[in-house]
Amino acid sequence: MADTDHSAGEAVAARIERRWAILSVSIIGVLVGMAIFIGIHKATMPQGRVETSDARTLHLAGEFVESNLGSALESDGSVTVRAIGQQYSFTPQCIVVPAETPIILRTTSADVVHGLLIEGTNINTMLVPGYVAELPIRFKAPGEHVMPCQEFCGIGHQGMWGKVKVVDKAAFAKLAAARRRLTCVD
Ligand code: CUA
Repeated sequence: MADTDHSAGEAVAARIERRWAILSVSIIGVLVGMAIFIGIHKATMPQGRVETSDARTLHLAGEFVESNLGSALESDGSVTVRAIGQQYSFTPQCIVVPAETPIILRTTSADVVHGLLIEGTNINTMLVPGYVAELPIRFKAPGEHVMPCQEFCGIGHQGMWGKVKVVDKAAFAKLAAARRRLTCVD
């Protein structure tokens, strides 16, 4: 009698142990899956991919020269927005983008560390001199969003504000047909 009790207890223990082993391995599997997903979709913050820029020559050559700042319509229909932060403003001060369109925001700083936050979205990044911050955005509907600097950057920090104006897709396409780089700074 005592012997059968013993082996029944062993079988129960083995079954519970197997369940826990499966659960542990599944948790590891989920975590590995999440790491792979955020890696592929560049959803980590900070990102694993580091891109540098030279704050000393930003205005003179390369991607962030003034004539290249603003919104550009790409051949695949997406939009790339390039902007820089400097004490104490953003250039462009007002960013215009279409609704319902994949947008890549590429920004950097020309001097000290600034922050860029677009109200009503999950866009919130630091602009670090020497590095490019790249973020994907998509706006559902036309409207306006304020874009304050959210990192203390000096005496004029509280006055460093920008704006994002989201217009409908057709209106943006019309604007983009007339100009290579768009802003809503008049
Ligand atoms: Cu720029 Cu605070």
